[in-house]
Amino acid sequence: MRVKTKDLYDEYLITSMVAGFEPVEVDHAYGCVMVGRDGREYLDCFSGIAVVNAGHCHPEVVSAAKVQMDKFIHCGAYVYYSPPVGELARRLAEITRGGLRKSFFGSSGAEAVEGAIRLAKQFTKRKEVVALTHGFHGRTVGALSVSGTRGRKKGAGPYLSGVAFAPAPYCYRCPLKLKYPGCGVACADCMKHVLECQTSGDVAAFIAEPVMGEGGIIVPPPEYLPKVVEIVRDDGALFIADEVQSGFGRTGKLFAVEHYSVEPDILCMAKGIADGFPLSAFIARPEVADAFTPGDHLSTFGGNPVSCAAALANIDVLLSNDLPGRAAQVGAGMIERLQAFQRRCAMVGDVRGLGLMIGLELVKDENRTPATREAGKVRSLCREKGVLFGVGGPYANVIRIQPPLLLSEIDANHAAEVLEQAISTLHP
Ligand SMILES: Cc1ncc(COP(=O)(O)O)c(C=O)c1O
Repeated sequence: MRVKTKDLYDEYLITSMVAGFEPVEVDHAYGCVMVGRDGREYLDCFSGIAVVNAGHCHPEVVSAAKVQMDKFIHCGAYVYYSPPVGELARRLAEITRGGLRKSFFGSSGAEAVEGAIRLAKQFTKRKEVVALTHGFHGRTVGALSVSGTRGRKKGAGPYLSGVAFAPAPYCYRCPLKLKYPGCGVACADCMKHVLECQTSGDVAAFIAEPVMGEGGIIVPPPEYLPKVVEIVRDDGALFIADEVQSGFGRTGKLFAVEHYSVEPDILCMAKGIADGFPLSAFIARPEVADAFTPGDHLSTFGGNPVSCAAALANIDVLLSNDLPGRAAQVGAGMIERLQAFQRRCAMVGDVRGLGLMIGLELVKDENRTPATREAGKVRSLCREKGVLFGVGGPYANVIRIQPPLLLSEIDANHAAEVLEQAISTLHP
């Protein structure tokens, strides 16, 4: 008899997912569909944690990877010249803005964040970092040190010193108890206070996600980023945009910073860069990038040529099919529909998002008590009906809708219908 993969996981894997496993044993996947080993099809609205933006196993991405695999799989991109690595670096310089030009490749989002912070320190000759509460930047010690979420940080300290946090632009749970737009984005002004009172004036960088993902899909008001970035730049710090989750079309633009009139000094990317192949990068302006001196930074697997070839094909697929534009359109329709549902259902406290990066925050009462258990139940009910969502946010009460960007309007409506029905079951 075939051994269940769940049993192998239970026996042999180290796992600690807060939201628990979905009982789906994946056999294969294509487009927006994941197929279980029992033959059941699921509409995937989570994309392997916001990764397969061009859809599962996009034929052009798969074919580019296969061609590269037949040539060579690894050579050490920092020892020998690897054509897909050079070509991808040029492509990233073409598709980003603000004079970003030179890239460093790693394998994971956390690795990109660590490298970006190191580069900022080297360039500015400064040592401290400011970040945002509710921000998430990865699971390595440096990345966790600049993450503002207790749930992710517990048990792994002590963390790096020289890190200070400003309040996130989380309007639904404003830490200043103010209301937008009357607040005048006072949370951005808090950064002045943070720099003056919590740092020694030696800040190398401000790191932030332009749209916060793991923190519960928090979309800053339009004025927030330009204002806060001006404050940190006046203090001599660089702005590192962590677009690991928001990049590659997810928010309706190729990069989420394009929604805001602001350009980063360093931009981190991973997840959607290669449609599921492991790869990450940070890109910087040449004068910043050249702050690394020989021997400063390296990654054995970084810039894997198969992943880079896949990334080149992935970028072509995203742009030639205008998947960011499609995400903007389908996402806007979905947000509108879910906001109409919110007006009928008190359990839906907030619906927010940009493009196909959408969060639906569930609450128990008028005091906005997080409906954590209920969010887990909603996720399960939807899975039983064949639609997969994520759960996130500091209280694990935000349903995360982050499907592949080729989701059709019909499928988007079906997913929303299933979600609304599941929530209505718990809160008729
Ligand atoms: C914004 C952001 N930065 C960094 C990371 C870490 O990426 P990885 O898990 O690939 O290390 C994540 C992962 O969720 C993320 O959302």
